[in-house]
Amino acid sequence: MQQAYSAEKAAAFAYIGHAKNVKTEAEKLAIKQIEDDEWEHRREVLEIMKEYNIPISKFYEFKYHIIGKVISGLCYVIGRFMPFFFAGKLESGNVCEYFRMKQYFNAIGIYKHDLALYEMGIKEKEHEVYFLAQVKDDKLLPFFEKIFSWGANSSFNNIDLENKQAPENSGDYCKPNK
Ligand SMILES: [Fe+2]
Ligand SMILES: [Fe+2]
Repeated sequence: MQQAYSAEKAAAFAYIGHAKNVKTEAEKLAIKQIEDDEWEHRREVLEIMKEYNIPISKFYEFKYHIIGKVISGLCYVIGRFMPFFFAGKLESGNVCEYFRMKQYFNAIGIYKHDLALYEMGIKEKEHEVYFLAQVKDDKLLPFFEKIFSWGANSSFNNIDLENKQAPENSGDYCKPNK
């Protein structure tokens, strides 16, 4: 949870740089919205951490601060494709962070965070789908997909937004070997 909390900051920082480096107003607005979602996630994760007296990790805060700023800066130099691609890849991995947290809580008999964690996981999936849509016709995608295992045909989670499961039926999301 400490890691998720700090990683949201890295993501939000990165999207600030990203938004400055896209051309259309629609893209800027979409990325700004995603940045706001990440700050909101950070607030929600912090709420849960407080409840269990989990402290904020200074190490992760520092590490992800640097990572966020570096990625943000890179958005100024690496063109259009890569920021969208790596943002999508990152989001793809984040989805399961929240579903796994839900599974851990459930394993120790705590169910009251289910909905919040479910919604954060689904939100990350929406972010992933947005970023994928921005690069899906790019001719670089097949090549990057091969190397980084993420793209039009590969994802780091098994959530299908078109056939979304209700929160109470989402138990199969992010289970190993699914
Ligand atoms: Fe997030
Ligand atoms: Fe996200």
